[in-house]
Amino acid sequence: MTAQARLIRVESPAIGPAGAVEGVALVVLDRPDKLNALSAALMEQLVDALEALDRDPACRCIVLTGAGERAFAAGADIKEMADATPVSLSRGNSFARWERIGRVRTPIVAAVRGYALGGGCELAMTADMIVASEDAVFGQPEISIGVMPGAGGTQRLTRAIGKARAMEMILTGRRMDAREAEAVGLVTTVVPAEATIDAALELASRVAAMPPLAVMAAKEAVLRAFELPLSSGLEFERRNFYLLFASDDQKEGMAAFVEKRPPGWTGS
Ligand code: CAA
Repeated sequence: MTAQARLIRVESPAIGPAGAVEGVALVVLDRPDKLNALSAALMEQLVDALEALDRDPACRCIVLTGAGERAFAAGADIKEMADATPVSLSRGNSFARWERIGRVRTPIVAAVRGYALGGGCELAMTADMIVASEDAVFGQPEISIGVMPGAGGTQRLTRAIGKARAMEMILTGRRMDAREAEAVGLVTTVVPAEATIDAALELASRVAAMPPLAVMAAKEAVLRAFELPLSSGLEFERRNFYLLFASDDQKEGMAAFVEKRPPGWTGS
């Protein structure tokens, strides 16, 4: 049996001379010769890696990026999909992997350089924030190969940028550059290409420095805004808010404020 190719790298990142970025893991889609196309094997390894990090209390935030300068990911692997049938797709149930990513509780920051197309755009949108390089290109080009988005594009892009713009992109396959993506609210920030990873790590380190239970509870509540009617979302938010008053970090955070000192989080 041949060993399975390694398509995902997990690293403990460092920024310049400042060294290690405390509490942050860097996950790299590592198939640059195919523009990090999301094959089934790559997705399986990605989900396994994200779930392992999610179980690790030392990991407070994840940065997800693509190897190389040309692409975050150029979509699902078209060659792998070309001969699929509705039955093979349904039996393969590959989109279940995407649902597992949606259940990762640790915040994820996508660092996007170059193409984020099709499943690549959809993967970036499963992240909680997107740091885009000036040369990033977002799009849902599936229509031009005879299909449509299948990993959340019609839903997440519409929620992110609104119906009128999402329709145009999905029905014509038009790509959007980083500045437009920033203007319409698809990305958190745009930075010079060579600064993309460091900017994403810096953002992730600011999240990682916050009390982890509150971070997870807040992420969970924000994501409910996409699922629930307002009254139910507000109720969910309130319950998470109440729950945090059972944490040591709430006691510590408020005591530190009153005592005019920096807080020391324990994550309990
Ligand atoms: N699947 C498989 N292989 C891909 C790929 C993909 N989505 N995108 C790029 N590649 C491969 C190419 O086949 C090529 O491999 P070879 O050298 O072995 O031929 C290599 O990556 C480099 O790509 P190109 O030579 O095409 O590079 P380019 O600079 O000429 O073009 C591009 C770049 C415009 C991104 C072009 O590669 C492209 O259009 N890719 C496909 C984009 C796309 O349609 N994505 C949607 C896929 S469907 C989907 O994602 C469904 C879903 O919702 C889950």
